Amino acid sequence: MRTQVGIVGAGPAGLMLAILLHREGIECVVLEARDREYVEKRVRAGLLEQNTVDLLHELGVADRLDREGLEHNGIYLRYHGKNHYVNMAGLTGRHITIYGQQEVVKDLTQALLDQGVTILFEVSDVALLDIETDHPRITYEHAGTTDELTCDAIAGCDGFHGVSRPTIAEHLTEYDYVYGFGWLGILAEAHPATDELIYAWHEDGFALYTMRSQKISRLYLQVDADDDVGNWPDDRIWSELGTRLGDVNTGTIFDKGITPMRSYVAEPMQRGRLFLAGDSAHIVPPTGAKGLNLAVNDVRLLAPALRDLIREGNAERAEGYTRAALRRVWRAQDFSNYMTQMLHDLGGGPFQRRMQLARLEYVERSEAAARSLAENYVGLPAEPDF
Ligand code: FAD
Ligand code: PHB
Repeated sequence: MRTQVGIVGAGPAGLMLAILLHREGIECVVLEARDREYVEKRVRAGLLEQNTVDLLHELGVADRLDREGLEHNGIYLRYHGKNHYVNMAGLTGRHITIYGQQEVVKDLTQALLDQGVTILFEVSDVALLDIETDHPRITYEHAGTTDELTCDAIAGCDGFHGVSRPTIAEHLTEYDYVYGFGWLGILAEAHPATDELIYAWHEDGFALYTMRSQKISRLYLQVDADDDVGNWPDDRIWSELGTRLGDVNTGTIFDKGITPMRSYVAEPMQRGRLFLAGDSAHIVPPTGAKGLNLAVNDVRLLAPALRDLIREGNAERAEGYTRAALRRVWRAQDFSNYMTQMLHDLGGGPFQRRMQLARLEYVERSEAAARSLAENYVGLPAEPDF
């Protein structure tokens, strides 16, 4: 098979890139290891920056988001049993929207299939070859046969555990920080007991109250990185959430999982004709709610770079891609690390805990501090084309 851009991975980065390229009249094929149902049910992020929402609108894939997304104006920071409101809309004029990542994935997948773009699910043994030439190839197995896709460029959008980054590992510099804790996340059939998200500092550890709809709550608890969901029967979860978050509405828990936390960046995000985007190149701890939004920003920059390269043989933007994308990635790394360090029990004892409270009180008392947090949380305006 022959195409212009071979995209590995049908997560937010791969799907969004496919829509952007299709709009430019550039042909692409998406290869995904899992089946469609699995990808559309995988529970992960929920918070979209305004830049992300704006791009979904621009691409004409925001009808359901407009109907079902929940627009938010701010967040509560909770400590010593009290909620303190940070009015993000008031401080920045921008909003955030709660809409499940799997809903974004469903909408993008359907739009692509409607537009006639090929997505092959359940491919295996994906290998990337000849990436230093003008015609890189992808070999893979699909429906029992071995196939090959010859491309002008390959986009590695296959997440943190994919094959794209390892293919160029020897050319990368890696920056890595592993935290000793993770988040236990649940989805429950419960009307959220709060109007806005609550980020809670507590002696027992961090907790987050978020939601998916008026009927579904999403809640997280800080737990040890190597903890097991088997140690967390529903009663224990609700009791700990009540302790850390105060008023919590309980209900049937229908999803439960633990995610260890890390910060990671691989540099550069390109080698030859292979370009990395999203989690395949960088990971942030979810406290800043940036991962999906960074994935979307990467491909917003990558699509015009690929268009110039393929259509006009102009490699200028392709060569600038790493630098343009990493500006936002490092800003998000710093902000996600700041939120994580301010709110979690880091194991550093009473002095560290008091320092965290001093930071939280600073945000409450100083408009400058609140504004700095707010502009990072809602996301700085998208960089102009580079
Ligand atoms: P992925 O979503 O990982 O997609 C990669 C795709 O590639 C997958 O479908 C995978 O099956 C496929 N794949 C892997 N290997 C191969 C292969 N060899 N061949 C073919 N296909 C392959 N981000 C936010 O912005 N806001 C939030 O509120 C937020 N909350 C989060 C909460 C939690 C608990 C977690 C875990 C993450 C959260 N994130 C959040 C981060 C966000 O989910 C990720 O950053 C996002 O999924 C990245 O998208 P992606 O397309 O780069 O990668
Ligand atoms: C979510 O709704 O899943 C969510 C919201 C904010 C975060 C992380 C996750 O910081």
